[in-house]
Amino acid sequence: MCGIVGIVRKRSGVAEDLVKSLKKLEYRGYDSAGIAVMSDGKIEVVKGVGTIDSVVGGIEIRDGPVGIGHTRWATHGGVSPENAHPHTSCHGEVAVVHNGTLDDFEDMRRELITKGHELRSETDTEVVAHLIEENLKSGDGPLSAFVNTIRKLKGSYAIVSMISGERALFLARNKSPLVIGLGEDGNYCASDVAALLHLTNRFIFMEDGEIALLTPSSVEIWKLEGGKMEKVDRRAEEVDWSPQLLDKGSFEHFMLKEIHEQPHILKKIAESIDYYTRFSERLDSLLRSGSLTIVAAGTSYHAGLIGKYLLSKLAGIRSEVIIASEFPEWSSHLREGDVVLAISQSGETADVLEAVRIAKSRGSKVVSIVNVPGSTLTRMSDESVFIQAGPEVGVAATKTFSAQVAVLYVISSLISGRSGISDELAGVSELLRNSMGDLEGFSKEMSDLLKDKEHVFFLGRGINYPTALEGALKLKEISYIHAEGYPAGEYKHGPLALIEEGTPAVVMVPVNEELRKKAVYNIMEVRSRGAFTITIQPKGVEVPTDASLEVDVEDELLSPLIYTVPLQLIAYYTAVSLGRNPDKPRNLAKSVTVE
Ligand code: M6R
Repeated sequence: MCGIVGIVRKRSGVAEDLVKSLKKLEYRGYDSAGIAVMSDGKIEVVKGVGTIDSVVGGIEIRDGPVGIGHTRWATHGGVSPENAHPHTSCHGEVAVVHNGTLDDFEDMRRELITKGHELRSETDTEVVAHLIEENLKSGDGPLSAFVNTIRKLKGSYAIVSMISGERALFLARNKSPLVIGLGEDGNYCASDVAALLHLTNRFIFMEDGEIALLTPSSVEIWKLEGGKMEKVDRRAEEVDWSPQLLDKGSFEHFMLKEIHEQPHILKKIAESIDYYTRFSERLDSLLRSGSLTIVAAGTSYHAGLIGKYLLSKLAGIRSEVIIASEFPEWSSHLREGDVVLAISQSGETADVLEAVRIAKSRGSKVVSIVNVPGSTLTRMSDESVFIQAGPEVGVAATKTFSAQVAVLYVISSLISGRSGISDELAGVSELLRNSMGDLEGFSKEMSDLLKDKEHVFFLGRGINYPTALEGALKLKEISYIHAEGYPAGEYKHGPLALIEEGTPAVVMVPVNEELRKKAVYNIMEVRSRGAFTITIQPKGVEVPTDASLEVDVEDELLSPLIYTVPLQLIAYYTAVSLGRNPDKPRNLAKSVTVE
């Protein structure tokens, strides 16, 4: 994972902006961080263990016109000051930041040591700085030294390098994201657009196998193919995200802010039905020649399960959902003409991208539902549609889940020819806006109860079985309390044995009367074994339970959009009352760019 950034300017002064960008990239990893700045032709590095603020805080940095930065999620080598990026060559004339993992770097490392290089870290990245230095020593100019190094690399990488005396940045991308930002006083690059929004909203999205040279007034891109370097001419794209979206405002955490943004996002989707029509028509027509497989990871996988349900119920379309990391093993049946629908917030999840590569290699068509503009998934897909949720900073996906579900609802409805979709979604948006206060109050109360528990179960039926999975994922990832989501009817086939006196079970009560009766049996099953049940249920229905939140929900198919919000808030307040930072849960990064 890791986040990287680079700035090259006409004037001196890059350190502050590097730090600002790195803070925006901390969702990609934050176990160590660092920057390298070139001033008077010399590169100076500040790096260490911890977040970028803790690493650069109180340090006087000699500023200059070129700099690179990195925030790390350790893969090769533990969390230590030596392993933090940027990495430099023996004489400090080359500095490199890298996101990804290099294959066979041990061989290159041994070879460099034989040639007299002194490597100071355990990372794969450090070899890059030394290889560039070696090429410079053998007489290559700066660009050739960089290109000849990249030619030797295998694996995944987004690399940015700077070389003493050069007012330039050298970039390479293969299977890890890298975008170029165009500015008035210079040019920039980073792992994603959000990191550069305070500097520009004009971007060029690099593709795999490309290298680039940035100077303060020029951007040149080449495709590296075998021994050849082909010039690439690519237009810049404008991204309409505002930098304010990356501000917590008056909220204590991004996660809480993002939960509160949901009514607004649903309204936006409700007002964009025309935008989703083209995608729905294309999907519908592609499905005439093959089957549909949905692929996604984590929260997006849960949205995918809801999508399967909606496509089946509303449009009579049969699909299967495969969890992205398992896709290579479970997709042997895919053929030419089949369709793969990839769902991803970031559009950079390595498991999802690998699934897409496999699908393409079999001749299947790839369509995708994505949040981040310009992300790799959009570029690999035959057709993409955006969920319009804006940047999501909290590691736990919240608003993007709701937006994915809403978009899947719109697409399924459009394919089925239903009308009134916009009003239905606008209704949900209004309902959530008006009930946010009540949802907050109930969730705070429940979190008080859950914070001391070791296990919490989430049960749902039908369309809310994936909602239960999502509720459990939210709670475990940010509060570190063990939580499991189950189909309520499946629970008696084993997990019921785990219920003890006081074990909390959060149950999503169906709107549909027949389904509700079954859920009530399931509630009685767990209660009679001592469970403390918390139900989220339609207003006015009788359910035997210990605590309940009544919401004004009338349509089963829209209920996940409403039920999910208290689940997110319960997870949030439980984490906060346990003193955890919900925006940066331990061991996790927002964008998982390793398989
Ligand atoms: O960017 P993606 O939607 O592809 O990410 C998939 C998962 O990594 C992501 O949903 C993850 O599970 C979140 N931490 C869940 O809150």
